[in-house]
Amino acid sequence: MNSNTLRLPLPDDFHIHLRQDAGLAGYAQDAASQFGRVLVMPNILPPVTDPQQLMEYQRQIEAAAPGLQALMTFKLNAKYSSHDLVALKAAGAVAGKYYPAGVTTNSQDGIGDFESVLPVVAEMERLGLVLCLHGEEPGAFCLDREKEFLKHVHALVAKFPRLKIVLEHLSTRDAVEAVQALPATVSATITVHHLLFTLDDLIGDGLMPHHFCKPLLKRPEDRDALRMAAFSGNPKFFLGTDSAPHLRGKKECPCGAAGVYSAPVAIPLLVQIFEEANALDKLADYVAGFGADFYGIPRTSRELVLERSEWFVPMEVHGVVPLAAGKTLGWTIKV
Ligand code: DOR
Ligand code: ZN
Repeated sequence: MNSNTLRLPLPDDFHIHLRQDAGLAGYAQDAASQFGRVLVMPNILPPVTDPQQLMEYQRQIEAAAPGLQALMTFKLNAKYSSHDLVALKAAGAVAGKYYPAGVTTNSQDGIGDFESVLPVVAEMERLGLVLCLHGEEPGAFCLDREKEFLKHVHALVAKFPRLKIVLEHLSTRDAVEAVQALPATVSATITVHHLLFTLDDLIGDGLMPHHFCKPLLKRPEDRDALRMAAFSGNPKFFLGTDSAPHLRGKKECPCGAAGVYSAPVAIPLLVQIFEEANALDKLADYVAGFGADFYGIPRTSRELVLERSEWFVPMEVHGVVPLAAGKTLGWTIKV
């Protein structure tokens, strides 16, 4: 290796939205340009809740993007029986996703009453299914939703000491500190956009709808805490991009959808971020090590090669404005 070539183990994305129908193939192929394995979120319509549907969704993704392995999730609700969960696990589900009601895209049917899902969570613990949390408290002030949700994470850890929990897309220093202090059963994903941006990049100057996501971008000290966590080499923190494509018209409108489309650019941007922080030696574990270890799957034996050359990010991909659209990045993925 020389300093103009970077060889990484092929990254895993432990949090991605691939949608359905017409958009799916292009989004899955973009993911496959950067990742070997992706943990696919279940908030399609109708949501992924049953084994047949989960297997069919996985089949569609893997058919659209050969070489991409889809790790599947189901959307948590209070109605699952033990039998339902056993069947989901047998169908290939690795995790259940907890969406509080109304906090983000397609979460109107999310969980209103935290206590109501605890029996289902108890079964997930018994079966070894991972619990992925969208950790925002409905009804709280928008910048405080993550902090206000942390009490539920503490309650879950106290009740279910063997349950593996992933607090998704961290956005605050409070959440970083909570995850650091909690036992090894609790880990967290951090997105590319939360490492890059603060609220200023959304509303500090002109309104930037393509930087609008949930949880919201926060203060500089929050971003700095997220960066320190990602660069720390602590195995609790690993990549989940929360890449969430919405067609341009759904973002540039009076009530725009939340989501940043980072899949086409995630790894070149992360190389840049880690390199600027002199933390390139921490990147491989962050993108292709700690997540697999936590989920209990083997580390990849495949590779991704990047070269130091300019890459102009297109203004639009499949009708979606990607992260860093119109910018020139310093690293290119070799195909
Ligand atoms: O910004 C977001 N977009 N956050 C989420 O939690 C969901 C996602 C989506 O599905 O669009
Ligand atoms: Zn998400």
